[in-house]
Amino acid sequence: MLQDLNQQAVEVLNGNDRGTYTLPTSGLYPYQWNWDSAICALGYSTYDIDRAWTELETLFAGQWSGGMVPHILFHESDPGYFPGPEVWGGRGPVPSSGITQPPVAISAARMIYERAPEQGGDRLAKLYPSMLAWHRWFMRWRLDAGAVCVSHPWEAGRDNAPDWDGAMARIKPNGVGTYQRRDTDHVSAHMRPSNDEYDRYVWLVQLGRRLKWDEAALRAENPFRVADPAMTFICLRAARDLLAVGESCGFETNGLRSDIASLERGAETLWNGAMGCYDSRTVPGGFTGSLSNASFLCWYAGLNDERQLPELRRALERSAYPIASYDPDSQHFDPVRYWRGPTWAFMNMLIGTGLAEFDYPEARILRDATRSLISRSGFSEYFNPLTGDPAGGNSFAWTAAVWLAWAGPTAGET
Ligand code: SER
Repeated sequence: MLQDLNQQAVEVLNGNDRGTYTLPTSGLYPYQWNWDSAICALGYSTYDIDRAWTELETLFAGQWSGGMVPHILFHESDPGYFPGPEVWGGRGPVPSSGITQPPVAISAARMIYERAPEQGGDRLAKLYPSMLAWHRWFMRWRLDAGAVCVSHPWEAGRDNAPDWDGAMARIKPNGVGTYQRRDTDHVSAHMRPSNDEYDRYVWLVQLGRRLKWDEAALRAENPFRVADPAMTFICLRAARDLLAVGESCGFETNGLRSDIASLERGAETLWNGAMGCYDSRTVPGGFTGSLSNASFLCWYAGLNDERQLPELRRALERSAYPIASYDPDSQHFDPVRYWRGPTWAFMNMLIGTGLAEFDYPEARILRDATRSLISRSGFSEYFNPLTGDPAGGNSFAWTAAVWLAWAGPTAGET
């Protein structure tokens, strides 16, 4: 049964494979997404190292001259998605969006390299300068007191998390015009962001396009700026990974130690002592009052923070299929609406990877819970944390990759 699921996971991943990149799922997401690709590469690395490197190389082929790696690469046009390349007006070598996503790909490159160093040395050496440039782009454009900010909810990847509600309310989406959402052609509207949120997402894209995606101009005009724990923790781990592989392979590591120290100080600015969790911070402004699955990525970032353990333990018990993407006891919780409550297997993998590195038994508890969830409900995009029911898109590449790389029985013990 569990072995059958291995085979099914490979079929899901291969079914979304477009040769050099992978769709998250056809229909709903018909292009290459940044952090999805990184997770897919980890899945491929369990049975095809060469394909894993190709996935990352295709992603970095879309890197802009300033170092930014876009969150979507529009390799082939598909009218079934909105907003497509003509709306974004990206200015990189491949048609793309104008924002980035958390740099899971940098840490994935290290993991894939370490899985088979003899097969990856040359490929890592070629990618390393691009990865370092991306890291430096974050340090140049996205820091607030050392924490890493997002400039659009889609940049966080956690599109409609309640973390953004305050900053989104600042936007008056006047003049956004008419447009047709396509996501709700594929997935029930009650599992997706609201129309009010979409108006603001599109308004922010129009702003970026009008400013030709000039980061200095956007910094001055964009009303949406939120320091995000997930982005900060993922950037911190990426910086540590660059330093580690840079030192072991003899690559340039200038500035990485002080960047890591800045990011560590930034992470501390996200500690909300009153709530006992890492929280997002609106800039300017303050804490958003958000206990989310991003709060538990501190260990993934190399921060062994015992202050976060009580809420972690509560989260593991609070819902039958943890970890809910938003606190089930919050008034904003919705068990099926995308990032306002559902459980995401890949977030569990990142959280569990960090916990395992510090030998917490919760790593295994979370891995086993994710194994049960996928065994029960398949390779869905996300899951209802209370019932375990599948939600969002199905035949999802990164959920299949998580099975192969972490949650399934052949992925190795944590
Ligand atoms: N997640 C967004 C969407 O739903 C884009 O990144 O289209």
